[in-house]
Amino acid sequence: MISVVILISGRGSNMASLLAAVDAGTLPVRIAAVLANRPDAGGLETAAAHGVPTGVVDHRQFAKREDFDTAMAAAIDAFSPELVVLAGFMRILGEVFVRHYDGRLINIHPSLLPTFPGLHTHRRALDEGVRLHGCTVHFVTPDLDHGPIIVQAAVPIIDGDDEDTLAARVLAQEHQVYPLAVRWFAEGRLRLQAGRVVLDSPQTSSGALIAPQTCAG
Ligand code: GRF
Repeated sequence: MISVVILISGRGSNMASLLAAVDAGTLPVRIAAVLANRPDAGGLETAAAHGVPTGVVDHRQFAKREDFDTAMAAAIDAFSPELVVLAGFMRILGEVFVRHYDGRLINIHPSLLPTFPGLHTHRRALDEGVRLHGCTVHFVTPDLDHGPIIVQAAVPIIDGDDEDTLAARVLAQEHQVYPLAVRWFAEGRLRLQAGRVVLDSPQTSSGALIAPQTCAG
């Protein structure tokens, strides 16, 4: 069974969805640790309540970004994980860090990349008037929110949506696709090869997951 380290910055609902999948027996990984860059990250308590080791590498203790990256990498590598999962981790990681975890560092982003990289994705989707929004799991590269895409889930934007209703609809899909992507990796069906995603799965060979059951009308 592979071991996984999860990095968080906040409430950690994606992390909790991974822990729940492990508990349910649908995600064959060992969550070796949950690490945060903020001591007040709410998800740390959730992880500890699950008996998962937790740690904090407080970015405010480091004058230089690279020094934070080095300390975080040391904290991660102490657990020798096969996979590092960014789950609402809100620090930009430098190129040296990202290259160190080449092919074993994944992220979830609340938009259908490559649209809306960066922050405030739900507000921007509403402002642009797009009819489909969603989330993306991708391998991390030094380009922010631009790595090779593993799986996406799409949701409709419904008349009357505001940032909160849309965020909730997308988050429900995040909680579905992130455990799925981690399971594929754990089962050896997902890898990064020459910068492209290779997914050995007949049902999902396109790497795409659309969630039509959420479509209204
Ligand atoms: C999620 O929407 C995730 O996609 C984004 O930040 C949010 C984190 O939520 N990167 P949580 O901490 O997992 O609840």
